Amino acid sequence: MKNHLWSLLSVLLVASCGPQDQPKETSTSFEQTWWKEGILYQIYPQSFKDTDGDGFGDFQGIIEKLDYIESLGITMVWMNPFFESPLVDNGYDVADYRAVLPRYGTMDDFQQMLDGFHQRGIKFVLDVVVNHSSIDHEWFKQSRSSRDNPYRDYYHWWPAENGEPPYRHSLFDPEGAWEYDSLSNAYYLHTFAEEQPDLNWENPKLRQEVYDIMKFWAEKGVDGFRMDAFQFASKDTTWPEFPEGHEKDFIKWYGMRPQLHEYLKEMYHEVLEKYDVFAVAEGAGSTFEDAHKLVDADRQELQMAYHFESVDMSRTPDGYELADFKEVFTKWDSAFAENGWIAIFLSNHDNARLVNRFGNPDPEFRTPSTQMLNTFLLSMRGTPFTYYGDEIGMTNMDMPKIEEYVDVEAKGKYKAALAAGEDMERFMEILNYSSRENGRTPMQWDDSENAGFTTGTPWKRVNENYLEINVAAQEKDPNSILNHFRKMAQVRNENPVLVYGNYELLQKDHPTVYAFTRTLEEEKMLVLLNFSEENSSITLDEIGDLDQIVINNYPDLDTSEGSITLLPYQAAIVKIN
Ligand code: GLC
Repeated sequence: MKNHLWSLLSVLLVASCGPQDQPKETSTSFEQTWWKEGILYQIYPQSFKDTDGDGFGDFQGIIEKLDYIESLGITMVWMNPFFESPLVDNGYDVADYRAVLPRYGTMDDFQQMLDGFHQRGIKFVLDVVVNHSSIDHEWFKQSRSSRDNPYRDYYHWWPAENGEPPYRHSLFDPEGAWEYDSLSNAYYLHTFAEEQPDLNWENPKLRQEVYDIMKFWAEKGVDGFRMDAFQFASKDTTWPEFPEGHEKDFIKWYGMRPQLHEYLKEMYHEVLEKYDVFAVAEGAGSTFEDAHKLVDADRQELQMAYHFESVDMSRTPDGYELADFKEVFTKWDSAFAENGWIAIFLSNHDNARLVNRFGNPDPEFRTPSTQMLNTFLLSMRGTPFTYYGDEIGMTNMDMPKIEEYVDVEAKGKYKAALAAGEDMERFMEILNYSSRENGRTPMQWDDSENAGFTTGTPWKRVNENYLEINVAAQEKDPNSILNHFRKMAQVRNENPVLVYGNYELLQKDHPTVYAFTRTLEEEKMLVLLNFSEENSSITLDEIGDLDQIVINNYPDLDTSEGSITLLPYQAAIVKIN
């Protein structure tokens, strides 16, 4: 975040407004920087590419695929945790923040991979998991060993002689967030699994340890930090009782607690401002105001955040409404039209696959609908976060039986549903559709055994559709999802209007078409997305003259008879004069 890297771009903008409102001219200045202009590709390292035959991805596998990654046109990579870990939550339970898990390779392999990214102009974002550690971390081993151990206050403890601690909800453990530990006759807090004890951010020593760890990785050359579950780091240590049922509003009660901003400011001064790095928060609080407090430049805290409202809208096989989709993205855009910056995503390692969630996975529509969604992602304001496999339209798995699930979250939810006497058939139907395991299957490279991911036994079953959906097949097809992604990435990289331009929603109530413009000074682009499997027509009065088609996932765009007719899941961007 070195200041000399920032330059000011003053642009005249038309303020965001609904189609009925009168556009008003406002003058806004944006700070231009690489992490706003970039496209981020998320790699789940366990499932990307295995080179030593143990069925588990590794650094050398990523090194082997560096040219492929570069060919996508992406400019940043975020990798899920690869630190020493017992893998109770696939690496989100860190046992040593300075060591890499040997199954991924050595620190030298890591460095070789990092250099490989940098040689290709790709920045690297580290996953920083410091709301909690693993129970196997040395800090926790010390902390639990006795009440007067110097590491005791690295975690939150409640002495058993004070009675039961006030109820705290756990996202993964149906029995709640306090775990009794007989070693010191006390309870420790864990917002996630019981093997993930929460670190005590109220302790300045712990905070310094974390800053040192971040500096350790910044010195190695990482360019950014993704702050895992960080909105939960601060706790109200007076431990008030929370009202019954409060957990339904989890972020409101557990997120953004009293001292969070103090800690983030300290982190900014201790770490972020000393390097050319940025930090992105997982989660953005529960209001726009919360989100602004995290990311507005003058706050000197974080630089970017991502919210969950988009993925929250489609967690069951019943689908979602396009009207809600437009509303969510439009309101977040307008809330950040002048200040602050957000990331845009539709899928990641905690979610089902993009095409199942928001598109149409039927073979007939899989290609255009994934292309349409990738066009959307890469044409919005905000830094696009795209997830490995979505560039080729990888789909959900079919996992109807709970025995096949390895994920700690899925198992916890199953237990909780059983205990609550829920309809388990419906529960499994929803889990099968929405489970994050869907998004963690091995990357489908080609049609050889195990999709070219490993020569051994993959840690997770490969999706059987790899024979049709794989990189090698799509490389050969100029109209594939993969090649469309590349074209679209190039369009974004070459057109600052898609990065900084003002967004305006058109025909808000159109039932099947999402149409909007992006405008930056004299440049204007019209984005047209058909979210349905039927042809859809839209009439856009006073839009100006349609000029050059910048990208289109069909050979033509029908603009005859005064309206535009889009084919099933057609996505096109057109310059406007
Ligand atoms: C975040 C991660 C998720 C993990 C959880 C606990 O939400 O994205 O994968 O299970 O934090 O670390």
